[in-house]
Amino acid sequence: MDSLEIIGGNNLSGEVQISGSKNSALPLIASIILSKKSVKIHNIPDVVDIKTLIKLLKILGAEEKFSSNTLEINTIKINKTVATYDIVKTMRASILVLGPLLARFGHCQVSLPGGCAIGSRPVDLHLKALRKMGANIEIKNGYIQASVENGLKGGDIKFEKKTVTGTENLVMAGALAHGTTILRNCATEPEVIQLCEVIKNAGVEIDGIGTETIKIIGTSGKLLNMEDIEVIPDRIEAGTYLCAGAITNSEIKLTSVEPKHIKSILDKLKEMGFTFKITAQEITIFPTSNILPVNLITAEYPLFPTDIQAQFTALATQSNGKSTIEERLFENRFMHVNELERLGASIKIDKNIVEISGKTELFGADVMATDLRASSALVLAGLIANGKTTIHRIYHLDRGYENLDEKLNKLGANVKRVKLTK
Ligand code: EPZ
Repeated sequence: MDSLEIIGGNNLSGEVQISGSKNSALPLIASIILSKKSVKIHNIPDVVDIKTLIKLLKILGAEEKFSSNTLEINTIKINKTVATYDIVKTMRASILVLGPLLARFGHCQVSLPGGCAIGSRPVDLHLKALRKMGANIEIKNGYIQASVENGLKGGDIKFEKKTVTGTENLVMAGALAHGTTILRNCATEPEVIQLCEVIKNAGVEIDGIGTETIKIIGTSGKLLNMEDIEVIPDRIEAGTYLCAGAITNSEIKLTSVEPKHIKSILDKLKEMGFTFKITAQEITIFPTSNILPVNLITAEYPLFPTDIQAQFTALATQSNGKSTIEERLFENRFMHVNELERLGASIKIDKNIVEISGKTELFGADVMATDLRASSALVLAGLIANGKTTIHRIYHLDRGYENLDEKLNKLGANVKRVKLTK
Protein backbone atom coordinates (compact mmCIF):
# COMPACT_ATOMS: atom_id res chain seq x y z
CA MET A 1 0.00 0.00 0.00
CA ASP A 2 1.41 3.39 -1.05
CA SER A 3 2.12 6.21 1.38
CA LEU A 4 2.61 9.95 1.08
CA GLU A 5 5.64 11.68 2.59
CA ILE A 6 5.06 15.39 3.21
CA ILE A 7 7.74 17.85 4.33
CA GLY A 8 5.79 20.65 5.99
CA GLY A 9 6.42 24.38 6.13
CA ASN A 10 6.17 25.48 2.50
CA ASN A 11 3.99 28.41 1.57
CA LEU A 12 1.72 27.68 -1.38
CA SER A 13 1.16 29.79 -4.48
CA GLY A 14 -0.23 29.58 -7.98
CA GLU A 15 -3.30 27.86 -9.40
CA VAL A 16 -5.03 24.51 -8.96
CA GLN A 17 -7.65 23.22 -11.40
CA ILE A 18 -10.62 21.56 -9.71
CA SER A 19 -11.69 18.21 -11.22
CA GLY A 20 -15.20 17.02 -12.01
CA SER A 21 -17.35 15.94 -9.07
CA LYS A 22 -16.96 12.29 -8.03
CA ASN A 23 -20.35 12.43 -6.29
CA SER A 24 -22.03 13.76 -9.41
CA ALA A 25 -20.27 11.41 -11.82
CA LEU A 26 -21.27 8.29 -9.85
CA PRO A 27 -25.08 8.69 -10.17
CA LEU A 28 -24.67 9.99 -13.73
CA ILE A 29 -22.78 6.82 -14.74
CA ALA A 30 -25.48 4.68 -13.09
CA SER A 31 -28.19 6.65 -14.92
CA ILE A 32 -26.85 5.49 -18.29
CA ILE A 33 -28.53 2.15 -17.47
CA LEU A 34 -31.72 4.07 -18.41
CA SER A 35 -30.32 5.23 -21.76
CA LYS A 36 -31.30 3.75 -25.11
CA LYS A 37 -28.05 4.86 -26.70
CA SER A 38 -24.35 5.37 -26.04
CA VAL A 39 -23.51 8.49 -24.02
CA LYS A 40 -20.31 10.49 -23.56
CA ILE A 41 -19.76 11.88 -20.05
CA HIS A 42 -17.02 14.55 -19.91
CA ASN A 43 -15.00 15.93 -16.96
CA ILE A 44 -15.12 12.70 -14.97
CA PRO A 45 -12.38 12.59 -12.28
CA ASP A 46 -9.94 9.71 -12.81
CA VAL A 47 -10.27 8.27 -9.29
CA VAL A 48 -10.69 4.76 -7.93
CA ASP A 49 -14.39 4.99 -7.02
CA ILE A 50 -15.24 5.97 -10.59
CA LYS A 51 -13.20 3.08 -12.01
CA THR A 52 -14.95 0.70 -9.60
CA LEU A 53 -18.41 1.72 -10.82
CA ILE A 54 -17.32 1.50 -14.46
CA LYS A 55 -15.98 -2.01 -13.73
CA LEU A 56 -19.33 -2.99 -12.19
CA LEU A 57 -21.28 -1.84 -15.25
CA LYS A 58 -18.83 -3.66 -17.50
CA ILE A 59 -19.39 -6.88 -15.51
CA LEU A 60 -23.15 -6.41 -16.05
CA GLY A 61 -22.52 -6.21 -19.80
CA ALA A 62 -22.06 -2.53 -20.63
CA GLU A 63 -19.49 -1.40 -23.20
CA GLU A 64 -17.25 1.41 -21.96
CA LYS A 65 -14.16 3.42 -22.86
CA PHE A 66 -12.73 5.75 -20.20
CA SER A 67 -9.80 7.98 -21.19
CA SER A 68 -8.67 11.56 -20.52
CA ASN A 69 -11.59 12.16 -18.16
CA THR A 70 -14.23 11.21 -20.74
CA LEU A 71 -16.33 8.05 -20.43
CA GLU A 72 -18.13 6.69 -23.46
CA ILE A 73 -20.63 4.11 -22.24
CA ASN A 74 -23.33 2.00 -23.85
CA THR A 75 -25.51 -0.15 -21.58
CA ILE A 76 -27.79 -1.63 -24.23
CA LYS A 77 -26.08 -5.01 -24.01
CA ILE A 78 -26.41 -5.31 -20.21
CA ASN A 79 -27.55 -8.90 -19.60
CA LYS A 80 -26.80 -9.34 -15.89
CA THR A 81 -28.47 -7.64 -12.95
CA VAL A 82 -26.37 -8.86 -10.00
CA ALA A 83 -24.02 -6.38 -8.31
CA THR A 84 -21.76 -8.76 -6.41
CA TYR A 85 -20.32 -8.39 -2.91
CA ASP A 86 -16.70 -8.24 -4.08
CA ILE A 87 -17.37 -5.00 -5.98
CA VAL A 88 -20.00 -3.40 -3.73
CA LYS A 89 -17.89 -3.92 -0.59
CA THR A 90 -15.17 -1.72 -2.12
CA MET A 91 -17.54 1.09 -3.02
CA ARG A 92 -20.85 1.50 -1.26
CA ALA A 93 -22.11 4.03 -3.80
CA SER A 94 -22.62 0.96 -6.04
CA ILE A 95 -26.08 1.04 -4.42
CA LEU A 96 -26.82 3.61 -7.15
CA VAL A 97 -27.39 0.79 -9.68
CA LEU A 98 -30.35 -0.52 -7.66
CA GLY A 99 -32.94 2.02 -8.86
CA PRO A 100 -32.03 2.01 -12.55
CA LEU A 101 -31.58 -1.80 -12.80
CA LEU A 102 -34.93 -2.43 -11.12
CA ALA A 103 -36.66 0.21 -13.24
CA ARG A 104 -35.29 -1.16 -16.50
CA PHE A 105 -35.20 -4.94 -15.93
CA GLY A 106 -37.84 -5.48 -13.25
CA HIS A 107 -35.39 -7.47 -11.13
CA CYS A 108 -31.88 -7.17 -9.68
CA GLN A 109 -29.71 -8.26 -6.80
CA VAL A 110 -27.36 -5.79 -5.15
CA SER A 111 -25.05 -6.75 -2.32
CA LEU A 112 -25.86 -4.82 0.85
CA PRO A 113 -23.18 -2.09 0.93
CA GLY A 114 -22.50 -2.57 4.61
CA GLY A 115 -20.93 0.08 6.74
CA CYS A 116 -17.69 1.92 6.33
CA ALA A 117 -15.26 3.76 8.60
CA ILE A 118 -17.59 6.74 9.09
CA GLY A 119 -20.73 4.87 10.03
CA SER A 120 -23.23 2.06 9.53
CA ARG A 121 -24.50 3.68 6.31
CA PRO A 122 -27.93 1.97 6.11
CA VAL A 123 -29.96 1.94 2.89
CA ASP A 124 -33.36 1.33 4.53
CA LEU A 125 -34.77 4.58 3.11
CA HIS A 126 -33.91 3.51 -0.44
CA LEU A 127 -35.69 0.18 0.07
CA LYS A 128 -38.75 1.64 1.82
CA ALA A 129 -39.25 4.07 -1.05
CA LEU A 130 -38.88 1.42 -3.77
CA ARG A 131 -41.42 -0.79 -1.94
CA LYS A 132 -43.84 2.15 -2.18
CA MET A 133 -43.39 1.91 -5.97
CA GLY A 134 -44.51 -1.71 -5.94
CA ALA A 135 -41.12 -3.43 -5.63
CA ASN A 136 -40.80 -6.72 -3.72
CA ILE A 137 -37.60 -6.41 -1.76
CA GLU A 138 -36.02 -9.07 0.41
CA ILE A 139 -32.66 -9.17 2.13
CA LYS A 140 -31.18 -12.64 1.67
CA ASN A 141 -27.60 -13.86 2.14
CA GLY A 142 -26.36 -10.29 2.34
CA TYR A 143 -28.06 -9.26 -0.90
CA ILE A 144 -30.92 -6.91 -1.66
CA GLN A 145 -33.17 -9.06 -3.87
CA ALA A 146 -35.55 -6.72 -5.70
CA SER A 147 -38.25 -7.49 -8.25
CA VAL A 148 -41.42 -5.96 -9.64
CA GLU A 149 -44.04 -7.32 -12.06
CA ASN A 150 -44.83 -5.10 -15.07
CA GLY A 151 -42.64 -2.21 -13.97
CA LEU A 152 -42.48 0.21 -11.05
CA LYS A 153 -45.53 2.32 -10.31
CA GLY A 154 -45.37 6.01 -9.46
CA GLY A 155 -45.98 6.80 -5.80
CA ASP A 156 -46.10 9.65 -3.30
CA ILE A 157 -43.00 9.08 -1.17
CA LYS A 158 -41.63 11.08 1.76
CA PHE A 159 -38.09 10.35 2.93
CA GLU A 160 -37.91 10.23 6.74
CA LYS A 161 -34.37 11.69 6.44
CA LYS A 162 -32.67 13.51 3.61
CA THR A 163 -30.54 10.98 1.71
CA VAL A 164 -28.40 11.99 -1.26
CA THR A 165 -28.04 8.60 -2.95
CA GLY A 166 -31.54 7.65 -1.79
CA THR A 167 -32.96 10.66 -3.64
CA GLU A 168 -30.80 9.83 -6.67
CA ASN A 169 -31.89 6.18 -6.72
CA LEU A 170 -35.57 7.13 -6.57
CA VAL A 171 -35.27 9.84 -9.25
CA MET A 172 -33.80 7.18 -11.57
CA ALA A 173 -36.51 4.68 -10.60
CA GLY A 174 -39.26 7.25 -11.12
CA ALA A 175 -37.93 8.14 -14.57
CA LEU A 176 -39.00 4.77 -16.01
CA ALA A 177 -42.00 4.09 -13.74
CA HIS A 178 -45.66 4.04 -14.80
CA GLY A 179 -47.35 7.33 -13.86
CA THR A 180 -46.27 10.11 -11.52
CA THR A 181 -43.80 9.81 -8.65
CA ILE A 182 -43.66 12.53 -6.01
CA LEU A 183 -40.55 12.49 -3.81
CA ARG A 184 -40.72 14.60 -0.63
CA ASN A 185 -37.93 15.68 1.76
CA CYS A 186 -35.40 15.20 -1.05
CA ALA A 187 -31.71 16.04 -0.80
CA THR A 188 -30.93 19.23 -2.74
CA GLU A 189 -27.16 18.80 -3.29
CA PRO A 190 -25.80 20.10 -6.64
CA GLU A 191 -25.08 16.47 -7.57
CA VAL A 192 -28.79 15.60 -7.18
CA ILE A 193 -29.69 18.66 -9.26
CA GLN A 194 -27.34 17.68 -12.10
CA LEU A 195 -28.81 14.15 -12.22
CA CYS A 196 -32.36 15.57 -12.42
CA GLU A 197 -31.32 18.01 -15.17
CA VAL A 198 -29.69 15.22 -17.20
CA ILE A 199 -32.82 13.04 -16.92
CA LYS A 200 -35.03 16.02 -17.83
CA ASN A 201 -32.83 16.71 -20.90
CA ALA A 202 -33.40 13.08 -21.88
CA GLY A 203 -37.12 13.76 -22.24
CA VAL A 204 -38.55 12.97 -18.80
CA GLU A 205 -40.98 15.45 -17.26
CA ILE A 206 -39.50 16.53 -13.90
CA ASP A 207 -40.67 19.42 -11.70
CA GLY A 208 -39.16 20.79 -8.49
CA ILE A 209 -35.51 20.27 -9.45
CA GLY A 210 -33.35 21.67 -6.64
CA THR A 211 -36.22 21.72 -4.16
CA GLU A 212 -37.20 19.19 -1.47
CA THR A 213 -40.19 18.00 -3.55
CA ILE A 214 -39.51 16.44 -6.92
CA LYS A 215 -42.30 15.32 -9.26
CA ILE A 216 -41.47 12.87 -12.06
CA ILE A 217 -43.76 11.61 -14.81
CA GLY A 218 -42.28 8.24 -15.78
CA THR A 219 -41.93 6.84 -19.31
CA SER A 220 -43.55 3.47 -18.40
CA GLY A 221 -40.37 1.60 -19.17
CA LYS A 222 -39.34 3.43 -22.35
CA LEU A 223 -35.57 3.98 -22.32
CA LEU A 224 -34.31 7.55 -22.38
CA ASN A 225 -32.80 9.59 -25.16
CA MET A 226 -29.78 10.72 -23.11
CA GLU A 227 -27.51 13.52 -24.31
CA ASP A 228 -23.77 13.85 -23.67
CA ILE A 229 -22.96 15.24 -20.21
CA GLU A 230 -20.36 17.59 -18.67
CA VAL A 231 -19.88 16.79 -14.95
CA ILE A 232 -20.05 19.77 -12.56
CA PRO A 233 -16.94 20.74 -10.56
CA ASP A 234 -16.18 18.85 -7.34
CA ARG A 235 -17.24 21.16 -4.52
CA ILE A 236 -15.61 18.97 -1.85
CA GLU A 237 -12.28 18.92 -3.66
CA ALA A 238 -12.60 22.71 -3.99
CA GLY A 239 -13.27 23.06 -0.26
CA THR A 240 -10.27 20.85 0.48
CA TYR A 241 -7.91 23.04 -1.59
CA LEU A 242 -9.31 26.20 -0.01
CA CYS A 243 -8.38 24.63 3.33
CA ALA A 244 -4.88 23.94 1.94
CA GLY A 245 -4.53 27.64 1.14
CA ALA A 246 -5.99 28.58 4.53
CA ILE A 247 -3.93 26.21 6.71
CA THR A 248 -0.67 27.37 5.06
CA ASN A 249 -2.01 30.93 5.13
CA SER A 250 -1.12 31.34 1.45
CA GLU A 251 -2.62 33.01 -1.63
CA ILE A 252 -3.77 30.39 -4.14
CA LYS A 253 -6.28 30.42 -6.99
CA LEU A 254 -8.79 27.65 -7.74
CA THR A 255 -9.91 27.39 -11.37
CA SER A 256 -12.85 25.46 -12.94
CA VAL A 257 -14.79 25.81 -9.68
CA GLU A 258 -18.47 26.68 -9.04
CA PRO A 259 -18.48 29.30 -6.20
CA LYS A 260 -22.24 29.05 -5.64
CA HIS A 261 -21.89 25.38 -4.65
CA ILE A 262 -19.54 26.18 -1.76
CA LYS A 263 -21.13 29.27 -0.17
CA SER A 264 -21.31 27.61 3.27
CA ILE A 265 -17.58 26.80 3.15
CA LEU A 266 -16.60 30.30 1.98
CA ASP A 267 -18.76 31.85 4.74
CA LYS A 268 -16.95 29.84 7.43
CA LEU A 269 -13.52 30.70 6.00
CA LYS A 270 -14.52 34.40 5.99
CA GLU A 271 -15.51 34.03 9.67
CA MET A 272 -11.96 32.74 10.26
CA GLY A 273 -10.53 35.94 8.73
CA PHE A 274 -9.78 34.88 5.16
CA THR A 275 -10.71 37.05 2.19
CA PHE A 276 -11.41 36.10 -1.41
CA LYS A 277 -11.56 37.26 -5.01
CA ILE A 278 -14.42 35.38 -6.66
CA THR A 279 -15.36 35.29 -10.37
CA ALA A 280 -17.68 32.98 -12.34
CA GLN A 281 -15.32 29.98 -12.28
CA GLU A 282 -12.38 31.06 -10.12
CA ILE A 283 -11.74 31.67 -6.43
CA THR A 284 -8.57 33.22 -5.00
CA ILE A 285 -8.04 32.91 -1.24
CA PHE A 286 -5.82 35.48 0.51
CA PRO A 287 -3.85 34.99 3.76
CA THR A 288 -4.94 36.62 7.01
CA SER A 289 -2.86 38.16 9.83
CA ASN A 290 -4.89 36.25 12.41
CA ILE A 291 -6.68 32.95 11.80
CA LEU A 292 -9.78 33.14 14.01
CA PRO A 293 -11.38 30.07 15.64
CA VAL A 294 -14.60 28.67 14.16
CA ASN A 295 -17.80 27.03 15.40
CA LEU A 296 -19.64 24.87 12.88
CA ILE A 297 -22.32 22.21 12.62
CA THR A 298 -22.54 19.85 9.65
CA ALA A 299 -25.90 19.47 7.94
CA GLU A 300 -27.54 18.74 4.61
CA TYR A 301 -26.97 21.07 1.64
CA PRO A 302 -26.92 24.05 1.42
CA LEU A 303 -25.58 24.08 4.99
CA PHE A 304 -22.03 23.11 5.95
CA PRO A 305 -21.03 19.80 4.29
CA THR A 306 -20.03 16.84 6.44
CA ASP A 307 -17.44 15.98 3.76
CA ILE A 308 -15.43 19.08 4.72
CA GLN A 309 -15.66 18.56 8.50
CA ALA A 310 -12.34 16.72 8.87
CA GLN A 311 -10.51 19.31 6.79
CA PHE A 312 -11.78 22.12 9.02
CA THR A 313 -10.74 20.16 12.10
CA ALA A 314 -7.16 20.21 10.79
CA LEU A 315 -7.44 23.91 9.87
CA ALA A 316 -8.80 24.80 13.32
CA THR A 317 -5.53 23.59 14.94
CA GLN A 318 -3.90 26.66 13.36
CA SER A 319 -6.53 29.16 14.51
CA ASN A 320 -5.95 31.32 17.58
CA GLY A 321 -8.50 30.10 20.08
CA LYS A 322 -10.99 27.31 20.73
CA SER A 323 -13.09 25.94 17.85
CA THR A 324 -16.02 23.54 18.04
CA ILE A 325 -17.21 21.28 15.25
CA GLU A 326 -20.43 19.27 15.56
CA GLU A 327 -20.97 16.29 13.22
CA ARG A 328 -24.68 15.68 12.79
CA LEU A 329 -24.83 13.27 9.82
CA PHE A 330 -22.53 10.38 10.61
CA GLU A 331 -21.94 8.58 13.89
CA ASN A 332 -18.23 7.94 13.51
CA ARG A 333 -16.68 10.65 11.44
CA PHE A 334 -13.85 11.60 13.83
CA MET A 335 -11.30 8.95 12.80
CA HIS A 336 -8.88 11.73 11.84
CA VAL A 337 -8.83 13.14 15.39
CA ASN A 338 -6.50 10.51 16.91
CA GLU A 339 -4.17 10.84 13.94
CA LEU A 340 -4.12 14.64 14.21
CA GLU A 341 -3.28 14.24 17.91
CA ARG A 342 -0.27 12.13 16.88
CA LEU A 343 0.92 15.26 15.06
CA GLY A 344 0.49 17.28 18.25
CA ALA A 345 -3.04 18.63 17.88
CA SER A 346 -5.04 19.34 21.04
CA ILE A 347 -8.56 18.05 20.44
CA LYS A 348 -11.29 16.91 22.83
CA ILE A 349 -14.23 14.73 21.69
CA ASP A 350 -17.54 14.90 23.52
CA LYS A 351 -20.09 12.63 21.77
CA ASN A 352 -20.54 14.21 18.31
CA ILE A 353 -18.71 17.44 19.08
CA VAL A 354 -14.97 18.07 18.85
CA GLU A 355 -13.28 21.01 20.52
CA ILE A 356 -10.00 22.05 18.95
CA SER A 357 -7.50 24.29 20.76
CA GLY A 358 -5.25 26.53 18.70
CA LYS A 359 -2.84 27.73 17.66
CA THR A 360 -0.95 24.42 18.11
CA GLU A 361 2.41 23.75 16.51
CA LEU A 362 2.32 20.36 14.76
CA PHE A 363 5.23 17.93 14.34
CA GLY A 364 5.61 15.39 11.55
CA ALA A 365 4.90 11.74 12.38
CA ASP A 366 3.61 8.51 10.86
CA VAL A 367 -0.18 8.60 10.61
CA MET A 368 -2.86 6.30 9.19
CA ALA A 369 -5.52 7.22 6.65
CA THR A 370 -8.88 5.70 7.60
CA ASP A 371 -11.41 7.11 5.14
CA LEU A 372 -11.45 9.45 2.20
CA ARG A 373 -12.02 12.81 3.86
CA ALA A 374 -10.14 12.01 7.08
CA SER A 375 -7.10 11.28 4.92
CA SER A 376 -7.30 14.71 3.29
CA ALA A 377 -7.30 16.28 6.77
CA LEU A 378 -4.00 14.51 7.50
CA VAL A 379 -2.54 15.83 4.24
CA LEU A 380 -3.53 19.37 5.23
CA ALA A 381 -1.92 18.97 8.66
CA GLY A 382 1.23 17.56 7.02
CA LEU A 383 1.53 20.72 4.92
CA ILE A 384 2.24 22.77 8.05
CA ALA A 385 3.72 20.20 10.47
CA ASN A 386 7.43 20.60 11.27
CA GLY A 387 9.47 17.98 9.48
CA LYS A 388 8.16 14.87 7.69
CA THR A 389 4.66 13.43 7.96
CA THR A 390 4.14 9.99 6.43
CA ILE A 391 0.54 9.09 5.68
CA HIS A 392 -0.04 5.35 5.29
CA ARG A 393 -2.88 3.54 3.40
CA ILE A 394 -3.43 6.41 0.99
CA TYR A 395 -5.62 4.22 -1.21
CA HIS A 396 -8.36 5.99 0.76
CA LEU A 397 -7.26 9.28 -0.83
CA ASP A 398 -7.04 7.80 -4.30
CA ARG A 399 -10.75 6.95 -4.11
CA GLY A 400 -11.81 10.55 -4.37
CA TYR A 401 -8.94 12.98 -5.08
CA GLU A 402 -7.51 13.13 -8.61
CA ASN A 403 -3.70 13.66 -8.78
CA LEU A 404 -3.63 15.08 -5.24
CA ASP A 405 0.17 14.93 -4.85
CA GLU A 406 0.82 16.46 -8.28
CA LYS A 407 -1.70 19.24 -7.68
CA LEU A 408 -0.20 20.08 -4.27
CA ASN A 409 3.39 20.01 -5.57
CA LYS A 410 2.39 22.33 -8.41
CA LEU A 411 1.23 24.73 -5.67
CA GLY A 412 4.68 24.52 -4.05
CA ALA A 413 4.11 21.80 -1.45
CA ASN A 414 6.67 19.03 -0.87
CA VAL A 415 4.68 15.79 -1.24
CA LYS A 416 6.18 12.48 -2.33
CA ARG A 417 4.21 9.32 -3.15
CA VAL A 418 6.17 6.30 -1.92
CA LYS A 419 5.22 3.02 -3.56
CA LEU A 420 5.47 0.13 -1.11
CA THR A 421 7.84 -2.36 -2.75
CA LYS A 422 6.13 -5.77 -2.81
C1 EPZ B 1 -23.57 10.86 0.06
O1 EPZ B 1 -23.56 9.62 0.74
C2 EPZ B 1 -22.12 11.13 -0.36
N1 EPZ B 1 -21.67 10.07 -1.25
C3 EPZ B 1 -21.23 11.18 0.89
O2 EPZ B 1 -19.92 11.53 0.45
C4 EPZ B 1 -21.74 12.29 1.81
O3 EPZ B 1 -20.98 12.30 2.99
C5 EPZ B 1 -23.22 12.03 2.15
O4 EPZ B 1 -23.99 11.92 0.93
C6 EPZ B 1 -23.82 13.14 3.00
O5 EPZ B 1 -23.70 14.35 2.32
C7 EPZ B 1 -22.06 10.11 -2.55
O6 EPZ B 1 -22.78 11.01 -2.98
C8 EPZ B 1 -21.57 9.00 -3.42
P1 EPZ B 1 -26.92 9.94 2.77
P2 EPZ B 1 -24.96 8.88 1.07
O7 EPZ B 1 -27.77 8.82 2.28
O8 EPZ B 1 -25.94 9.15 0.02
C9 EPZ B 1 -28.66 8.19 6.81
C10 EPZ B 1 -17.60 11.26 0.23
O9 EPZ B 1 -16.73 11.50 1.07
N2 EPZ B 1 -29.37 7.24 5.95
O10 EPZ B 1 -27.24 11.32 2.36
O11 EPZ B 1 -24.64 7.48 1.42
C11 EPZ B 1 -27.15 7.99 6.78
O12 EPZ B 1 -26.76 6.99 7.69
C12 EPZ B 1 -18.88 10.56 0.64
O13 EPZ B 1 -17.53 11.59 -0.98
C13 EPZ B 1 -30.24 6.32 6.53
O14 EPZ B 1 -30.43 6.31 7.74
O15 EPZ B 1 -25.40 9.65 2.39
C14 EPZ B 1 -26.63 9.36 7.16
O16 EPZ B 1 -26.69 9.49 8.57
C15 EPZ B 1 -18.80 10.05 2.08
N3 EPZ B 1 -30.89 5.43 5.73
C16 EPZ B 1 -27.64 10.31 6.53
O17 EPZ B 1 -28.83 9.52 6.31
C17 EPZ B 1 -30.73 5.43 4.37
O18 EPZ B 1 -31.36 4.61 3.67
C18 EPZ B 1 -27.19 10.90 5.20
O19 EPZ B 1 -26.84 9.82 4.36
C19 EPZ B 1 -29.84 6.37 3.79
C20 EPZ B 1 -29.18 7.28 4.60
